[in-house]
Amino acid sequence: MKVAILSGTVYGTAEDVARHAAGVLKAAGLEAWHDPRAQLAQVLEFAPDALLVVTATTGMGELPDNFVPLYSAIRDQFPAWQGLPGGVIALGDASYGDTFCGGGELVRELYGELGVREVQEMLRLDASETVTPETDAEPWLENFAKTLRG
Ligand SMILES: Cc1cc2nc3c(=O)[nH]c(=O)nc-3n(C[C@H](O)[C@H](O)[C@H](O)COP(=O)(O)O)c2cc1C
Repeated sequence: MKVAILSGTVYGTAEDVARHAAGVLKAAGLEAWHDPRAQLAQVLEFAPDALLVVTATTGMGELPDNFVPLYSAIRDQFPAWQGLPGGVIALGDASYGDTFCGGGELVRELYGELGVREVQEMLRLDASETVTPETDAEPWLENFAKTLRG
């Protein structure tokens, strides 16, 4: 089971969580791949069986600039990912109110358009509540791995 991990970050936290996620999924026996500068061609070459997006939110509920090109490329080229299992880990800050984890919500919308199946409820990591997002994500990731392994 090959899992492509895509990440979007402004200050680096989401990238750290994505890197940690790759380690957790590998330890759980999955073939996890994470390249923080991945372009769509490389993702397609990896030929994922499942997707995990780890993204921060910036602006007013927007995706980080470093993830926008890949997000747009996926939307434009519409890879045949229909039916693939997917998950989203969203980093945000609840003090932003309505736009809390808006970047993650945009990824969920994209999954919906592509027909990617969200197999587990999006994890929201609130920067106003925690300073240990990597370890906080572990139980969610272990469950995600279990679901993917079937
Ligand atoms: C300028 C700015 C705008 C932000 N806007 C939002 C937002 O609209 N919604 C939200 O949930 N978090 C927002 N955040 C919080 C970040 O998403 C959060 O701190 C996250 O952990 C940062 O992750 P990163 O280090 O990967 O960039 C914002 C942070 C900054 C600095």
